[in-house]
Amino acid sequence: MARLRKSMVWIGILCVCFVLVNWAAMSFGGKKPPAVPGISPEKVADYVHAIIKADRIVYTTLVVKRMQEKGIVLAVEHWEQNNALPLPAQFLQRAGRLVAENGSGIRYRLISLWPIYRRNGPATEFERDGLKAVASNPDKPHTGIVTSGKKQYFQAIYPDRAVAKACIDCHNAHPLSPKRDFALNSVMGGIVITIPLE
Ligand code: HEC
Repeated sequence: MARLRKSMVWIGILCVCFVLVNWAAMSFGGKKPPAVPGISPEKVADYVHAIIKADRIVYTTLVVKRMQEKGIVLAVEHWEQNNALPLPAQFLQRAGRLVAENGSGIRYRLISLWPIYRRNGPATEFERDGLKAVASNPDKPHTGIVTSGKKQYFQAIYPDRAVAKACIDCHNAHPLSPKRDFALNSVMGGIVITIPLE
């Protein structure tokens, strides 16, 4: 009888301990928000690139190509003076300028080793190496961390391909183009995405 009572006391003590431990865990640990796993800059660049690339293809094929084929309106370089559509590259550059102005720190540009305009050439060794890398291996972006002043940035360069015949026809014939043998689907340049790391 005495042994039974002793066991009951022990079980009681254990129950009280269990409740106390749980209460402590809930009041100290439970208030913390659940840890959010971080997103790597590689992933952020991949997400941003997926959107830019999709918009670029939709604009080139569903707007520019379609309107030209139907004889409705052309896309020409001096579109403002000619009541025409902006070129696909100009569409990307304009949107990129707006993004840069909104102050989030993220930037993107369309560049090439064979640019029609020198301002669209590589601005750094990293960009030059990246363009060469994606031209020979278009399956993955060229990535790295670059420093500008005291700030660090993650940069990723993705290949930009000739997705339509219009891309190569125009570049191969443009008087300022330094390369005249682009083929369909070839890598014509790259999209550089720059993400601030602080
Ligand atoms: C009707 C002519 C035309 C068409 C079509 C065209 N481009 Fe361009 N592209 C240009 C011009 C002009 C520029 C320079 C724009 C600027 O910086 O003002 C340019 C810029 C570029 C650049 C940046 C480097 C450079 O040459 O200055 C890349 C890369 C590029 N185009 C790829 C493409 C791809 C890929 C396509 C098809 C999806 C395409 N272009 C369609 C005329 C054209």
